Amino acid sequence: MLDAQVTQLLNEQITKEFYSAYLYLDFSNYFNDKELNGFANWYRVQAQEERDHAMLFLQYLQNNSEKVDLGAIAKPDVALTDDLTVLKAGLKHERYVTSLIHAIYEAAYNVRDFRTMQFLDWFVKEQGEEEKNADSLIKKYELYGSDPKSLYMLDTEMAARVYTAPSLVL
Ligand SMILES: [Fe+2]
Ligand SMILES: [Fe+2]
Repeated sequence: MLDAQVTQLLNEQITKEFYSAYLYLDFSNYFNDKELNGFANWYRVQAQEERDHAMLFLQYLQNNSEKVDLGAIAKPDVALTDDLTVLKAGLKHERYVTSLIHAIYEAAYNVRDFRTMQFLDWFVKEQGEEEKNADSLIKKYELYGSDPKSLYMLDTEMAARVYTAPSLVL
């Protein structure tokens, strides 16, 4: 039995992670329409990872005999005006998700819920990587995005990303 507020935040995080998947699928579709298929692939894989995150929160609740309460997934609300705007929205979103993870961690910390803190450790580290990846994409695009040949090579690099299941197993 987990603390009521911790349980509520974990439940809300399921929906937030599915929203992340939805948002990145929207990004993927944007790049697909522009024939930047490597970027489209990169965000499609990213969306898969976000679905995995959602399922980890769901599994964790069930492992602790807590009821899963699925919320509504909102329509992606980022204006897909140009490539750099999309990439920057990705970083902004990951920073927001980091703040959500930290808020759950704080709630668990306040009630000395060591099990949930241990579970969240993986996500704390993961968010560091997510922010780094999003920031790196922006920097690469700023360096190479304005030159068609360089952009083609960057897109080819993005095409190489393959899906791997998360290292956290519950
Ligand atoms: Fe996530
Ligand atoms: Fe993420």
